Amino acid sequence: MDTDQYNLMDYSLLPLNYYVDDSIFDNFFPERIRKISKVHWTPLAIAKKAASFLAPVPGSKILDIGSGIGKFCIAAAHAFPDSEFHGVEQRKDLFDMAVEAQRRSELRNVRFLHGNFTEWNLEYYDSIYFYNAFAENLIDVARIDESIDYSPGLYAYYSNYLCKALENKASGTRLVTYHGYVHHIPLGYELVKQDLNKPLRMWIKK
Ligand SMILES: C[S@@+](CC[C@H](N)C(=O)[O-])C[C@H]1O[C@@H](n2cnc3c(N)ncnc32)[C@H](O)[C@@H]1O
Repeated sequence: MDTDQYNLMDYSLLPLNYYVDDSIFDNFFPERIRKISKVHWTPLAIAKKAASFLAPVPGSKILDIGSGIGKFCIAAAHAFPDSEFHGVEQRKDLFDMAVEAQRRSELRNVRFLHGNFTEWNLEYYDSIYFYNAFAENLIDVARIDESIDYSPGLYAYYSNYLCKALENKASGTRLVTYHGYVHHIPLGYELVKQDLNKPLRMWIKK
C-alpha cells in the first residue's frame, strides 16, 4: 500500500486482527517503515504484555520514550482504554505517522509529542516504557535513517539523563525495558519479571 492510498482509506473500517497481527498493522505504513518493523517497532503482543504491567490500575499514566510510529502506544491504549499512553518522538516524520495512526484508531487515551525526551517532564508519569531508543548512537546497523546526528557521546548523555530522571521518580514507579539497557537502570529499581526469550524486563522502584 503506498502513502496516497493510505491517506484515502476509510479508517472506521480497520481490518479484523488490526491489533493482533503485526503485518496487518504495519501494512498501513509506507514500505520503508514496514521494512524496519521487526527491528524498530514493538510487536503488538509484546506491547500488550508490557502494558499489562505498566497500567496496573485504571488511570495509570504511561510514557513511551522514543515512540517512533506509535506502535507501542496504540496497541497498549487499545488494550487498556482506562489508562493514558503518551509517546515522545524526536523525528518529525515518525511523529506525523504516529498521529495519523492514532487518528485511524480513534483512540482517545493516546497522545504523541514531537521533540527530544529531555525536553519533556517525566514527573507526570506513573510508568515508563523504553525500547532501547538510544542504541542507534552506538550501532550503525540499528539506524532508522541519516536525518539526525549520532555519537557515543549522545548515547552517554541520554543514558545519564534518563538514569537521573528515573532516580528522581517516586517509589512504585514501573518501568519496562525491551532489549538491552539493563546496565543503565538506577539502583533502587527491582527486576520483578522478565522474559528473556523476548527480551522483556519489568522493574519497580522500591
Ligand atoms: C526502537 S524505536 C522504538 C519505537 C517505539 N517505542 C516502539 O516500541 O514501537 C526508538 C525510537 O526512539 C526515538 N528516539 C531516539 N532517541 C530519542 C530521543 N532522545 N528523544 C526522542 N526520541 C528518541 C527514535 O527516533 C526511534 O523512533
